[in-house]
Amino acid sequence: MSEKDHIIDTEETEVEKVSDVEVEETKKDKEDEYEKVCFICHRPESVAGKMIDLPNHISVCPDCMQKSFDTMMNGQVDFSQLMNMPGVQIFNMSDLENAVPKKQKIKKKKEKEERKPVLDIKDIPAPHKIKAKLDDFVVGQEHAKKVMSVAVYNHYKRVATDTMDDIEIEKSNMLMIGPTGCGKTYLVKTLAKLLDVPLAITDATSLTEAGYIGDDIESVVSKLLAAADNDVEKAEQGIIFIDEIDKIAKKKNTNQRDVSGESVQQGMLKLLEGSEVEVPVGANSKNAMVPLTTVNTRNILFICGGAFPDLEGIIKERLTKQATIGFNADLKDKYDKDEKILEKVTIEDLRNFGMIPEFLGRLPIIFTLQGLNEDMLVKILTEPKNAILKQYQKLLALDEVKLDFNEESLHAIAAKAMKKDTGARALRAIIEEFMLDIMYEIPKDDNIGQVTITKEYIEGTGGPVITLRGQEVARIEG
Ligand SMILES: Nc1ncnc2c1ncn2[C@@H]1O[C@H](COP(=O)(O)OP(=O)(O)O)[C@@H](O)[C@H]1O
Ligand SMILES: [Mg+2]
Repeated sequence: MSEKDHIIDTEETEVEKVSDVEVEETKKDKEDEYEKVCFICHRPESVAGKMIDLPNHISVCPDCMQKSFDTMMNGQVDFSQLMNMPGVQIFNMSDLENAVPKKQKIKKKKEKEERKPVLDIKDIPAPHKIKAKLDDFVVGQEHAKKVMSVAVYNHYKRVATDTMDDIEIEKSNMLMIGPTGCGKTYLVKTLAKLLDVPLAITDATSLTEAGYIGDDIESVVSKLLAAADNDVEKAEQGIIFIDEIDKIAKKKNTNQRDVSGESVQQGMLKLLEGSEVEVPVGANSKNAMVPLTTVNTRNILFICGGAFPDLEGIIKERLTKQATIGFNADLKDKYDKDEKILEKVTIEDLRNFGMIPEFLGRLPIIFTLQGLNEDMLVKILTEPKNAILKQYQKLLALDEVKLDFNEESLHAIAAKAMKKDTGARALRAIIEEFMLDIMYEIPKDDNIGQVTITKEYIEGTGGPVITLRGQEVARIEG
């Protein structure tokens, strides 16, 4: 090796050293955001008290430290001899360093001075502004959007003020009733995104009474904590959406213990109302190896949603019974063709469906969503900010091809989707099916300047209209 080489060599190692230190420092900064966790009992610092730092980033809480000393002082073990015994391995402290993985650590509460509420009362937009934002994404469902905007506004006002003139404002937990694919989940997701609060979505069917196979009810809070990056404070202002709530209706005529129906409703009462819940951090079940933390659900907004398939029948029955008694006797089939029958739902109907009164009492805001009709589906295709057709148009625009849908074709897509009876959910599948060929064929030919999707193409009886860059129109048989 020549002398020159040697010099370069040492320079390189110098550089490496510097960057190593930097990496170490940023790592330390990151670590600082998280609470220390006791290496022995796994409790976080906020629970166990100030940690005692040992080398290699290991922390032990005062209780465990004391216990260790006590054991040593009682003198059953002679440590000096233990170390000298053959076969005893001196364990390597650095192996322990990562014993508590990051995802099980809790973010430290922020310092007082830089701590701002996640949603400042002045920052909560007025209901009409919340609704206007929802309008950008969600088609129709005017009533639902209005009710939700007001409820959310009141909820976060309550969170910010805690009380108002010593009268506690009732929690705005909601129950939304509407057929599949009409936008229940989508509304909640959009709302959480707009408000920038963490959101956890759970299926009620996966929940069981604690101790049975399935997720126990408190696991929803654990999910929310994960969605909030393990930041307890943020999680406590989040939203929990429990889907398929109609599936935990009380089962009729069974003698077996109802661990996934009525008892789940019972188990949820405390959560809905507000209670302190011990949740595992970074896992969805409690066991000895995961640290626990306490989350208060008082300010968490719970939204339950479900399709309640047989509810219409129950409402009809009630209305018909009322109508046929007494002087106002009415036609029996009067309500059979009523499309808005669901809007007439009452607490009593929901009780007849199998929801227990205590549960319903904790969901003071009950509203219905409409099933989507063909015109609404057309709007969903084209109008929202992130409308699915806009997405394809943008994709093809990158190839400098203009994608067009004529009015007839939009209705053809909507009509096809209506037949599947899954609301707006069917749209994406239908579009993806016929767009596949377009997305495959178009980039082959640089001369194509515009593609117009026609009704015939959707229905499989013809092809799209292709316009070449030279304005000539050619028809391709699909
Ligand atoms: N009213 C709506 N406006 C815009 N898009 C909608 C609407 N309803 C449904 N969608 C679309 O359909 C998809 C499925 O709807 P979703 O909210 O999951 O239905 P569900 O009511 O069964 O929860 C959503 O992701 C969204 O893209
Ligand atoms: Mg849903």
